[in-house]
Amino acid sequence: MQATIEQMLSSYNDRAPLSEAFTIPATWYTDPRIAEMERLKVFSKTWQLVARTSQLQAPGDFVATRVAAEPIVVVRGTDGALRAFFNVCRHHAAAVVTQPCGRASILQCPYHGWKYGLDGALKGMPEFEGVENFDRAQNGLLPIRVETWECFVFVNLDPNATSLREFLGGLVKRVAPLGISNLHLFERRTYDIHCNWKVFVDNYLDGGYHVPHLHKGLNSVLDYKQYTIENEDRYCLQSSPMVASDEDSATGATRKGDRAWYFWQYPNLMINCYEGYMDTNYVVPVDADHCTVIFDFYFSDVSEAHREYNAESVNVGNRVQDEDLGICEDVQRGLKSRAYAAGRLSVRREAGEQLFHRLLAADLKSK
Ligand code: FES
Ligand SMILES: [Fe+2]
Repeated sequence: MQATIEQMLSSYNDRAPLSEAFTIPATWYTDPRIAEMERLKVFSKTWQLVARTSQLQAPGDFVATRVAAEPIVVVRGTDGALRAFFNVCRHHAAAVVTQPCGRASILQCPYHGWKYGLDGALKGMPEFEGVENFDRAQNGLLPIRVETWECFVFVNLDPNATSLREFLGGLVKRVAPLGISNLHLFERRTYDIHCNWKVFVDNYLDGGYHVPHLHKGLNSVLDYKQYTIENEDRYCLQSSPMVASDEDSATGATRKGDRAWYFWQYPNLMINCYEGYMDTNYVVPVDADHCTVIFDFYFSDVSEAHREYNAESVNVGNRVQDEDLGICEDVQRGLKSRAYAAGRLSVRREAGEQLFHRLLAADLKSK
């Protein structure tokens, strides 16, 4: 007989100390009811990264995307204010903005031509004379919360959510010295992975546990024994001193500086920094068995002279990602096996995973 949602949720004990703790149950990674619950209680209530501030500088600049399966659009107004709306026409629900990004002076629905201002107000409806009891002021695009931090733009579908700053908590202070807003986007790579989004996050948060086994190249530049794990608020920082390597020349040449900084912010954002380098990983759940991970690669110098170096650096990142991707898909198969229910956690390495599982459990168990 299939377990009820209540049974599934209560089978995770979020109060166990790390030395006694289990992972969240395997069913949380495979059951579509949990995936839908996450859409409503996690992704519809947390701040989600949707754009870079550099994409939304001038009046009329817009970015359209989806958050928790909801179509949304972020627009810079003529008054300079940044606004976000559900990208759903109030007439018959078509997407008003159909390009992923661009600049416009008016937002016009492609279906029947209704027009909205950059502030979301309904400006015009062709052939609508004679319609009674229709209040144009009540039929603008529905607004969504939007706030920025560093070079990133976030939205939150929950009108009652805390501010972005409060949500990020200690992360704001921790990231500030790294100067990430001075970096420039070089390339985006998108990976469709046959695993639950949490498998990807768990893999990221295992405190370097898998690095010596799965990422031999990356392992050659990290001082694995000195790897630290720091949990606070809704973020985990994994950090490692860097060592010189001649074992793997491409990795050694493109992963530089004193330390590697790997930030994870609940629920689905990672920010990885080396000297003059950042990549962000944004994990989007597709369904219980699939996720998409968007990698954005940033560098301090994106001029033509640095193109080759930057491209090589992206390739190094891509190789690590390919190694992770294979194991994540393998884990998803294992989680579906009758042989597995939940696993234990390494006290030395896997505190970040426990933080993730506790935050998630708190959200899923909330009313
Ligand atoms: S659905 Fe947008 S104008 Fe009809
Ligand atoms: Fe990895």
